[in-house]
Amino acid sequence: MRVAGVLQACRPMPALWVCGWVRTVRRGKDITFVALNDGSCLENLQVVLDSRMEGYAAAAHCGTGAALHVEGELVASPAAGQSWELHARRVRILGDADGDYPLQKKRHSFEYLRSIAHLRPRANTFGAVFRMRSALSFAVHSFFRERGFLYVHTPIITANDCEGAGEMFRVSTLPAEQPPMVDESIDWRQDFFGEKTGLTVSGQLQGELFATAFSDIYTFGPTFRAENSNTSRHAAEFWMIEPEMAFADLADDCVLAEDFLRYLVRFALDSCSGDLEFFDQRIEPGLIDKLEKLATADFSVMTYDEAVRRLERAPVGFEYPVAWGADLQSEHERYLTEQVVGGPLFVTDYPADIKAFYMRLNDDGRTVAAMDLLVPRVGEIIGGSQREERLVVLQEKMRKAGIDPARLDWYLDIRRWGSCPHAGFGLGFERLLMYVTGMENIRDVIPFPRTPGNARF
Ligand code: 4AD
Ligand code: MG
Repeated sequence: MRVAGVLQACRPMPALWVCGWVRTVRRGKDITFVALNDGSCLENLQVVLDSRMEGYAAAAHCGTGAALHVEGELVASPAAGQSWELHARRVRILGDADGDYPLQKKRHSFEYLRSIAHLRPRANTFGAVFRMRSALSFAVHSFFRERGFLYVHTPIITANDCEGAGEMFRVSTLPAEQPPMVDESIDWRQDFFGEKTGLTVSGQLQGELFATAFSDIYTFGPTFRAENSNTSRHAAEFWMIEPEMAFADLADDCVLAEDFLRYLVRFALDSCSGDLEFFDQRIEPGLIDKLEKLATADFSVMTYDEAVRRLERAPVGFEYPVAWGADLQSEHERYLTEQVVGGPLFVTDYPADIKAFYMRLNDDGRTVAAMDLLVPRVGEIIGGSQREERLVVLQEKMRKAGIDPARLDWYLDIRRWGSCPHAGFGLGFERLLMYVTGMENIRDVIPFPRTPGNARF
């Protein structure tokens, strides 16, 4: 049985077996207590070894980190804080661990645990984080399935830089010795795909194609950005969820984003309460209250114009100047969410010049129908927009952005045949996890983080 199931037993059990890894061993003269964890929950199962049992000496000397198979009897525990304990009859040491095992019983810093990313899933915090990650992945699919959205797998290798920010990782089979690796000197026709390709920065463009056939779709997959920003919110490889809806505008997009985030938070509250209590106590005090509030209260909405005015009037100083036309920096986002509205905030209608080419131009000719959802502590968690569905306007926007319309002829085709208003967004899955767990560094919510200089595990 798994430990989580054992700990929820409703009656004693005369015989059962459990496998797991040793968290701690407390040796006494006649009795040894072993705390066993198998990752199914935060709690350990207390295994009691009695010196009269066969093979006691070997079992009692297993090391922290050892893998055990324990057979025994489940009885009510006299100890405080646990309802059951397993009185072992037979213990098999499947794999012992020596005294060098790095996860000894003490609190390790997250920096240290990152350096042993192969072992950190066995630490309490990371057990809780990765259970949450798994549970919320499931919740993503159940949300969209309940609403009839089609799940699309968009390509990882692509010739298109959707965001146009020049942050694509190159994919190439050309010999590395072709000097110098300057784009202009490379004949991409010689390459595997016959053109310049890279790892996707977003599945949106292909998502739009599917939305104009299936109406409502979503993607959920790995996304890559070679942005050399060594921050606590950026990873070179992250997971993004991108819904796309035909026959929808920016207001519909915001409604979906709000419903989605609420659903995920509600799911975490209802299904992961043990791990959330741990985060609330150890990582972010007040976390559960914050999530309960988010699950019920309406999100605030503000245009970019208004946001800039609020920032200009702020009684605090900012490192980066605030001016209409400049992108909001994380300090601005934090001020707006933490000081101005005290919760999640949609900022809408950004200047066209700082947003991607595909966003729909507003009637004022200088802003686009875009929205970013900002949350306290994390900042931007969602970026979305209504898409430009008017062929001529889109072609003009592409020219302005320096994109050759001929390269995206397939994308323009859906504006030629059956074009319709449509909108979507991208939620950064790791940023969601940071918000829901209170973890402060993106490196600590993804199993094996990819950041500049870091691809070891
Ligand atoms: O705002 P972004 O760049 O939007 C897009 O990619 C659109 N194509 C989405 C769409 O409309 N379908 O990215 C969306 C979200 C951000 O709000 C952020 O949460 C996350 O993706 N994100 C990152 N997360 C971790 N590391 C990075 N380097 C990230 N870049 C973006
Ligand atoms: Mg964005």
